[in-house]
Formats: sequence, structure tokens, C-alpha cells
Amino acid sequence: MLASEVFERDFAINSSGHLEIGGCDVVELAQTFGTPLYVLDEEKVRANCRTYRAALKNVYPNYEVVYAGKAFLTQAMCGLVYQEGLGLDVVSGGELYTALQAGFPAERINFHGNNKSRVELLMALKNGVGRIIVDNLMELETLIQLAKETRTQPQVIFRLRPGIAAHTHTYAQTGQEDSKFGMGVKDGEALKAVKIALASSQIKLLGFHAHIGSQIFEVAPFLAAVDVLTAFMAEIRTQTGFGAQVLDLGGGFGIAHNKQEKTRSLREIVGQIGRYARERLAALQYPLPRLVLEPGRSIVGSAGTTIYTVGNIKRIPGVRTYMAVDGGMTDNPRVALYQAVYEGALANKMNEPLTEVVTVTGKCCESGDMLIWDLPVAVPEPGDLLAVFDTGAYNYSMASNYNRLPRPAVVLVADGEAEVIVRRETYEQLVQNDLLPERLKVKPEAEPIAK
Ligand code: LLP
Repeated sequence: MLASEVFERDFAINSSGHLEIGGCDVVELAQTFGTPLYVLDEEKVRANCRTYRAALKNVYPNYEVVYAGKAFLTQAMCGLVYQEGLGLDVVSGGELYTALQAGFPAERINFHGNNKSRVELLMALKNGVGRIIVDNLMELETLIQLAKETRTQPQVIFRLRPGIAAHTHTYAQTGQEDSKFGMGVKDGEALKAVKIALASSQIKLLGFHAHIGSQIFEVAPFLAAVDVLTAFMAEIRTQTGFGAQVLDLGGGFGIAHNKQEKTRSLREIVGQIGRYARERLAALQYPLPRLVLEPGRSIVGSAGTTIYTVGNIKRIPGVRTYMAVDGGMTDNPRVALYQAVYEGALANKMNEPLTEVVTVTGKCCESGDMLIWDLPVAVPEPGDLLAVFDTGAYNYSMASNYNRLPRPAVVLVADGEAEVIVRRETYEQLVQNDLLPERLKVKPEAEPIAK
């Protein structure tokens, strides 16, 4: 069997039997830019952005798609989503800084986070960030105070805790009652916040938000969130007369990394959610607010591939074969963190039959440093290139320098051209923030204190 049959994917394979991404030969990419290497397919990112817009255009014309930068944020990515007409969701001063450096219009930025610092809030206010998504009552009080001090009047959206436990990894659930995110609908916290906001001239309340989790495949929890939010909006309208201009349903739409993860087409799911929101609001005779969706993974996940060089191969008779690569949990921590299951193939042997099964391991000093368990591959040899698919989201953005491994470069590929959008980290950069006090300098002539 060939990789294309086993994994049921449409690979682009050139006449040398090499994998191609965005018209670029992966073997050449590795030779030019080194490995590990993140490869981002520009057309796929653009196509995913367009799928969202196309799905909502007809069912809910007053919509906005806001890219959740936590999935993958660099200045080039800001430029890409801007060109595709998306807004941007940032969740820290660092993400906000990145967006501003890229020239992303501040008024199209949504600022999230359950514990934004005063410094971060001030940064948002001074730069005129479009909407601040307020997570809790303390933050609301702080923001009102800061708005007064800076003589600004931020537009805010309240993040609600709808009490919905979506079916996904526990670490990726965010809408359940026992969650650190958002203000309670059931316990009256959100209502209290609305009253505070309406009594203050310092902030302008636009509407409500919920994000129930990530890597969710079912549509039902999203519809349940629509139910909770719209019912809350109707209740607030009755109690206070306030009509929401924005209904933000967050992100969280799952992508399939392997054959077992079955997903309906994004266009269908997004369309269904949009239609349902419209129906619910119509049933409540609620003037249609702007519908906002905040996808991260489903915009960039499928557009990313990580390329590694195969190193040592260890065959333990009767146990398993470990195939080590030159990266690991440092560039893809999702396997260790969430038991994520990825697929991969030897990019230089795409037309060779898969006759072996290996376990792909990284180079970190840690037994949990696994990338793929039991992967069918062509006969592997040191120097082969392994491509791991669908690594565009929450890989580069969650990468670390554990074991002092430099973070890989990111190249953007399109139409046979490759462009570096993030340089590979250097050893110099790894030590650039280290300070070495004079008394700790290693002097060969001085005796070590401990022997
Ligand atoms: N909006 C908010 C408020 C969020 O917290 C998130 C993700 C998103 C939107 C985008 O969700 P997405 O469409 O990407 O699922 N590190 C985990 C995922 C954490 C998601 C955090 N919030 C992972 O690697 O699976």
C-alpha cells in the first residue's frame, strides 16, 4: 500500500516521488531551509478563510470572521488574514504587539483573555483596539477605572460561561460551569456585569460572547451555545432594555488529523450554525446583531506541515521500532499534552510501498516525547525526510526551547515559491537573555568550590 491509500489523502507527488506542498518539492525545501521546518501552504489558509465567508454570506449576511491568533500568529499571518477580510483575535500583549507591528488595523482587533494585566489593557486602550472581551467582574471594574484614567471609551463584549461541556479533550473544554473562563449565566454574574456596564459612561457594551472549547466535531454544542446566549440576550432586553449589537460564538471547530477523526465539511457546519442563530433570534423577535465567529485551528491547521530529518532508527525485537527525528515535543507538544494523533509520510519516498511500522520519536530527553505511534512507512533510513501533516495550528505557537532546542523556521509556500516568514532560531538567540555575573564566570585557573 502507498501513503496516499493508507491515509486517504490527496498528496501532490512529483516525478521524483517527492512530496510537494504549494508547488514546492519538500526535499528541496529541506535542503534550502534545513529541518525541522514548518511549511505553511498559503492557498490553503486563504481557502479556509474563504470557506467561512462563503458559508456565512448567504445565511447570515451581517457576519464577521475573526481569526484566533493563538493558533498561529506571526506578522505575515496577520497580513494574510487581513487580505482575506478577517478580523483578528489576540489574547496577550505579545499577540497585540505582533498585530500592531504588522500594521493590522487596531479597530479590527478583539482582545481576549481571562487575566489581562493593567499594562495589557492600557496598551489596548492607547492603541484603540476595536473590542475588549471582558472575562469577569474584576476585569470590568479595572477596565472602567483605566478608561476613566485614559479618557477613552472602549467597546466591550462580555464573555459568558454558558454551562456547556462540549465533547473534546478536557483541557480544550471552556464552556462548562466549572471553567476559568467567562461570567456565569446561571449564577447571575453576567446580569450583574450588564447592569454595571449600562450604568457606566466609560465603556460601551456591544454584546455577548461564548467560546465553548476547541477541536469540537459535533455541531450540537454550538447550537446549545446559541440557545443559551440568545435566551440570555432576550432576558437582558426584558430586564434592562439593552439590545445586543454583537453575538460572538467563538471558535472551536475541529479538524481531522487522521482517518478516525470524522468531520463534516466546514462550510456545512458553519452554515448550519449561522442559520440556526438567525432562526433563534427571529423567534425571539430580536433585531439581528452582527454574528462573529473566531476560528483558529480550522483556518490554519490543515495548511501546515512539519518536515523533519530522520536520524537514528532503533529496532527492539518483539517490541517496536523507534524512528527518531530532529524535532519533537518542542515543536509539537500536542501529542504529549492532548494525545493528539497525527499522520505522516516519508516525503522523499512517496511512491514506495509502506512495508514497516515505526513509532516516531523526538530528540528530547523525555519518554513522552513522541510524535506518532505506529506509523506505516516505507523502509526508513537516516537522512529520509518525514512530513507530519496538519500541524499548522497550536504547533509553532506552542513551541518551546526545552533542551535548548532552537525553534524551527516557518516558510510560506505558494505557486512553487517559498518564502521564510519566521527565521530559524540561532544558538546566539538562545543565550541572548542569559546574564552571567562576574563571580560566576568560569575561570580555568580558579578551583571549583565543590569537589
Ligand atoms: N476564541 C477563543 C476565545 C479561544 O479561546 C479560542 C481557543 C479560539 C477562539 C479558537 O479556537 P479554535 O478555533 O482554534 O479551536 N492548545 C489547544 C487549543 C486551545 C484553544 C484555546 N482557545 C490545542 O492545541 O488543541
